[in-house]
Amino acid sequence: MNASTTSPGNQSWSNPLRDPRDLRLPRIAGPCSIVIFGVTGDLSRKKLLPAIYDLANRGLLPPSFGLTGFARRDWSEEQFRDFVKENIQAHCRTQFNEATWKQLSEGIRFVQGTFEDAESFERLSDTVAELDRDRGTRGNHAFYMSVPPRDFPIVARQLANCGLAKSTDGAWRRVIIEKPFGHDLASAQELDRVIAEVFDPNSVFRIDHYLGKETVQNLLALRFANTMYEPIWNANYVDHVQITMAEDIGVAGRAGYYDGIGAARDVIQNHLLQLMALTAMEEPVSFAADDLTDEKTKVLSAVRLPKDLAAHTARGQYSAGWQGSQPVVGYLEEKGISPDSTTETYAAIRLDIDTRRWAGVPFYLRTGKRLGRRVTEIALVFKRAPHLPFQSTATQELGKNALVIRVQPYEGVTLRFGSKVPGATSMEVRDVSMDFSYGRSFTESSPEAYERLILDVLLGDPPLFPTSREVDLSWKILDPIEDFWSALGQPQPYRSGTWGPQEAVEMLARDGHRWRKP
Ligand code: BG6
Repeated sequence: MNASTTSPGNQSWSNPLRDPRDLRLPRIAGPCSIVIFGVTGDLSRKKLLPAIYDLANRGLLPPSFGLTGFARRDWSEEQFRDFVKENIQAHCRTQFNEATWKQLSEGIRFVQGTFEDAESFERLSDTVAELDRDRGTRGNHAFYMSVPPRDFPIVARQLANCGLAKSTDGAWRRVIIEKPFGHDLASAQELDRVIAEVFDPNSVFRIDHYLGKETVQNLLALRFANTMYEPIWNANYVDHVQITMAEDIGVAGRAGYYDGIGAARDVIQNHLLQLMALTAMEEPVSFAADDLTDEKTKVLSAVRLPKDLAAHTARGQYSAGWQGSQPVVGYLEEKGISPDSTTETYAAIRLDIDTRRWAGVPFYLRTGKRLGRRVTEIALVFKRAPHLPFQSTATQELGKNALVIRVQPYEGVTLRFGSKVPGATSMEVRDVSMDFSYGRSFTESSPEAYERLILDVLLGDPPLFPTSREVDLSWKILDPIEDFWSALGQPQPYRSGTWGPQEAVEMLARDGHRWRKP
């Protein structure tokens, strides 16, 4: 097995788990800059700018790093710097340090402009050239598209027209594309066509920030660095799998993006299908991007949709209720949401994977806003022991064994199994839990997903980025479900603060299962 290899574009890259270099040495980006389109948006303010600062503060960016914001606002460079500083101070993970800020801020530039205006892109080109000259960024530039998909094509073409899109003279150009990649298979393919016209295939990085989470990468370590899980990781032992991404927040502030998109397109098409693929895939030949993609695409290609979509999918929309001790409005009363919107804020689906390993094991995927609490987990629920040599009353409270990978919060792994209740006069067996928690086992705190992914782009490391093939396969799975739902009208309401609509409970009950209460 090769520990390192070369990507199709001949860029050498590293393997995240089997890196040939001394892993104690930090991976530091070389001279380069990043340009952010959509720099005033929510994602940039709360995640991207703080992640860039945290990377700088951890010493993982070069001292000459350049950061350029491109936006419509009529700001001076000074005003843009203040904006960046304010958001970094509000959201950075590591401590705010004046010396780091001073160094980073010297490389900050602002270009005022619109996507339609070619002259704005000429100014961007001048700014990038100035960074090369004065800061020594050596022509290495990443372009982060934190903009709605409808704007990707125009930004891509403008970058091509002003000569910024292609790598030249040993310098690299890379483009980072945020989800959603289209809203169905056809639009995703159209987007790919435009992107392929402008950028080299190896320079396109599609972000699914769930792949940057430590716990998601730990799934690979758990499965493939240990001997005890793989023998039971199959249809002989696993009864079914539940993948849950629950959020307690609503859509306030993101109505424009969310309405018309809904929970399944927002989260199942990308994060949850990726989690499912990593859970179900075979061991890759190596953790190189191509080998990982090969295994994930096999899983996505083997997915079979339920015949009866009415029985095996569920949709819901939150109504007024509570988030903690605060009363909250329903989805239709949120600012910016049309009062007769049929967008779902909860979605659950059953998928089967037609492979020898998983035949007959349903995978249940669910996600929702304004649920009981924020939690993402992957739960493998095991079959019951074929025989229980106890009196039936002894095992009344014994559930099924489960292995739960807690993606967030309280990152870790829980194993649930039956144990004797101490002291009981007769044998009584009840569920107990054994826990591994990141917080207790390691002293370092986990970096944010965006820190890892932005650094990987600057280093040219592709394994944690989904390919267009994975994106297409995911839409192929979701499109028939979306078509079916679009004919149904209003989703079933569920009260904010609860665990979703009754439809979802019935969907599992039909198969003789219950959703776990995370
Ligand atoms: C995004 C979705 O991809 O993930 C949001 O668009 C969601 O709707 C967010 O809130 C959740 O991310 P995390 O990392 O907080 O689980």
